[in-house]
Amino acid sequence: MKLEGFLIRPVRYEDLDEVIEINLKTLPENYSRFFYEELYKRFPKTFLVAEVEGRIGGYVMCRIERCLSKFSKLRFVKSCHVVSIAVLEEYRRRGIATAMLKEALRNSMTEYGATEGFLEVRVTNIPAINLYRKLGFRIVDRIRGYYLDGEDAYIMAMPLNQTGV
Ligand code: COA
Repeated sequence: MKLEGFLIRPVRYEDLDEVIEINLKTLPENYSRFFYEELYKRFPKTFLVAEVEGRIGGYVMCRIERCLSKFSKLRFVKSCHVVSIAVLEEYRRRGIATAMLKEALRNSMTEYGATEGFLEVRVTNIPAINLYRKLGFRIVDRIRGYYLDGEDAYIMAMPLNQTGV
């Protein structure tokens, strides 16, 4: 997808170093290289990057999981778990995260049959909470002490079939 000034495309193996670098620069939640490689191999259609000015400016990576619906604890669904998303500071507020997330959620439906999306977010991460709300996610739960430093997480979720993403 080509939008103004950036291109959203699936990650390539050779992008992984840049993706890891962005993660280290922007988030306290970091992962082993093996973790990135696993998501790249298993769910390539929902591991996307934004190319800006000839470099990787942001990424989103997801895992497709079979789990209880976040809206009805009585049924299992295929869900798109947004594991991590970040945009380099200099490229923020241009709609890059919105475009990456929309495409990843759309692909999770069309390529993997997901019917819900969900994610964890720090309760103080207002930019991210606003981004997710704008896309249709709602807070469905709060997990005390979810993060290593003791901060709580909101679980935010949305049904994917009614979203228009
Ligand atoms: N303050 C308040 N709301 C913000 C915001 C900010 N600093 N940044 C984004 N938003 C909200 C706004 O509603 C915005 O819409 P608007 O620009 O029309 O007002 C909406 O999100 C979409 O913004 P977008 O331009 O698509 O987001 P982005 O490309 O700037 O990326 C993040 C947003 C959260 C991914 C980015 O700030 C980031 O990488 N943060 C560090 C990593 C992180 O926290 N990731 C999420 C972990 S759960």
